[in-house]
Amino acid sequence: MISLKSPAKINLFLRVLAKRADGYHELASLFQTVDLYDRISLSLNEEDKFYCSDSSIPTDARNLVCRAINLFKNKTGLNFHLKIDLEKNIPAMAGLGGGSSNAATTLFALNRLLNTRIPMTELSRWGAELGSDISFFFSAGTAYCTGRGEIIEPLEQLAQCSTLYLVKPPFGISTALVFKNLSVNYENNPCPRQMLSAFCNSRPHFHNDLENPACSLEPNLIFYKKKLKEIGFYEIFMTGSGSTLCCIGQPILPLSLPFQLFQEVRYTRRSLNEWY
Ligand code: C5P
Repeated sequence: MISLKSPAKINLFLRVLAKRADGYHELASLFQTVDLYDRISLSLNEEDKFYCSDSSIPTDARNLVCRAINLFKNKTGLNFHLKIDLEKNIPAMAGLGGGSSNAATTLFALNRLLNTRIPMTELSRWGAELGSDISFFFSAGTAYCTGRGEIIEPLEQLAQCSTLYLVKPPFGISTALVFKNLSVNYENNPCPRQMLSAFCNSRPHFHNDLENPACSLEPNLIFYKKKLKEIGFYEIFMTGSGSTLCCIGQPILPLSLPFQLFQEVRYTRRSLNEWY
């Protein structure tokens, strides 16, 4: 039996540089894992069983955990059955990379459980076949990601961001629709390398090129940003393709909240050969 935490990620900045011939977009983004976790437990079993704490999440081939298991079987030629327990805390369609993290965690867990000793770089490449954000989780938790998002430049630990809250509105947003709704602005944008070096020198400039297309799909996001400013956050930016907003500041929280709130979120990292 193996049981591992599967962390969420946020994008401290995300620039869209171009639309590619294959339909994907060329990105430059600073990814960071945070201490909001799902948990995945796997054990060898006589038959396949998949339990998930959230009944709205499919437990069939649509789930990235199943797709990661099938990929692992195809790549290694091994055959086995598993009892899978997935405890979900990371909201779906939220820009927090929950599904991608689950896929990466599953690949890492299977490698341990079956003692297959596949190098981390190889697992990271396999992950890229399933989704653009999966390879990132094989970094130590901080990386500058380019290409579709799957080309990883690992980075040293960043200074913790003070009082970070994650606000998840009651609606999710489809990544594919946000990208479809995007018009790439090739000019007049901050250069991603300069943004990266500013971050590494504790001069962060939070920015997300997907925020405008997400707001035109879900105009309520604009209302949420305005309200969050009013209650005292001084920096509010979307992560990934939304709908979660990363908020910095010390708010005066109203008694009832029209959104899901994760308070005092911290950056997290993993050490070499260990998971998060
Ligand atoms: O790779 P992933 O499955 O996470 O991507 C979901 C969708 O988001 C893709 O089908 C594509 O429409 C869009 N996408 C994109 N450019 C990227 C990443 C994703 O256009 N770099």
